Amino acid sequence: MKKIGVLTSGGDAPGMNPAIRAVVRKAIFNDMEVYGVYGGYAGLIKGDIKKLELGSVGDIIHRGGTMLLSARCPEFKSREVQQIGIEQLNAHGIEGLVVIGGDGSYMGAKALTEQGYPCVGVPGTIDNDIPGTDFTIGFDTALNTVIDAIDKIRDTATSHDRTFVIEVMGRNAGDIALWAGLAGGAETILIPEENYDMNNIVERLRKGQERGKKHSIIVVAEGVCSGVDFAKQLKELTNNDIRVSVLGHMQRGGSPSAQDRVLASRLGARAVELLMEGKGGRAVGIENNKLVDYDIIEALEQRKHKIDLDLFNLSKVLSI
Ligand code: F6P
Repeated sequence: MKKIGVLTSGGDAPGMNPAIRAVVRKAIFNDMEVYGVYGGYAGLIKGDIKKLELGSVGDIIHRGGTMLLSARCPEFKSREVQQIGIEQLNAHGIEGLVVIGGDGSYMGAKALTEQGYPCVGVPGTIDNDIPGTDFTIGFDTALNTVIDAIDKIRDTATSHDRTFVIEVMGRNAGDIALWAGLAGGAETILIPEENYDMNNIVERLRKGQERGKKHSIIVVAEGVCSGVDFAKQLKELTNNDIRVSVLGHMQRGGSPSAQDRVLASRLGARAVELLMEGKGGRAVGIENNKLVDYDIIEALEQRKHKIDLDLFNLSKVLSI
């Protein structure tokens, strides 16, 4: 392939910019032309496509968000709309597309692949819920953002002897809650992958108070329930002074961590290599610190992202 495109789609994630940079520079280094599709699949349908040069991706490695902009595009589920996308790519002579994004973006890349257009998926989402990779681009930065928030909330929780319920993102996955809860020393972590026992939570809070604990931090993944709803349930069973903090979209912003920049650079460059080898219909990832790639249809249909239950069990031991 001599001409490839790159787009970012769905919820943005810190590290998308270094991934775009890697795609562009790796391709140009190998004498290919690269086109940026602006505004995700919505921009693709409109033909918002421009050629990118080495300088187009200068000074972005440290920036959050995505210079290519992003969008959610439910219309792209339709076969006719996908065909329009393929026509736009063909009109520019673009022979393959790198799609950086999460679950919905992968579905779009899979659909284009099924229609014979070669795509390579690069996992970019803070949720860490993509099959075929241990980590997604943006997860590490989001974790650091959440931990920073937990540390700050802990200060005020201690001063006021309060229980804090902190709601974090993650869609249907509990990875952000689990990793940030463990790293932030939360007393309780609620994830959608595991049921919770309210009596047990109340008992743990009571025991903590008995031994003089001045605060309690409960991290709730949004896939379990809203932090406000959980706090209401808890209030009915305890006399604790409870406050709720919903971290929201701040978790998606900020300068990507070193970990995310390196991961994005490796995955972006690998996606280009696959297209150079004429291999479309793949999804790249990292497993045990080795780059891997899978058939994108197989990755989405047969693989499941699994939460690390050992980590979950460890968090329970360490927060007694
Ligand atoms: O997938 C990333 C994510 O931030 C999820 O954690 C969250 O559920 C969702 O996107 C929020 O989407 P939106 O920005 O469209 O409200």
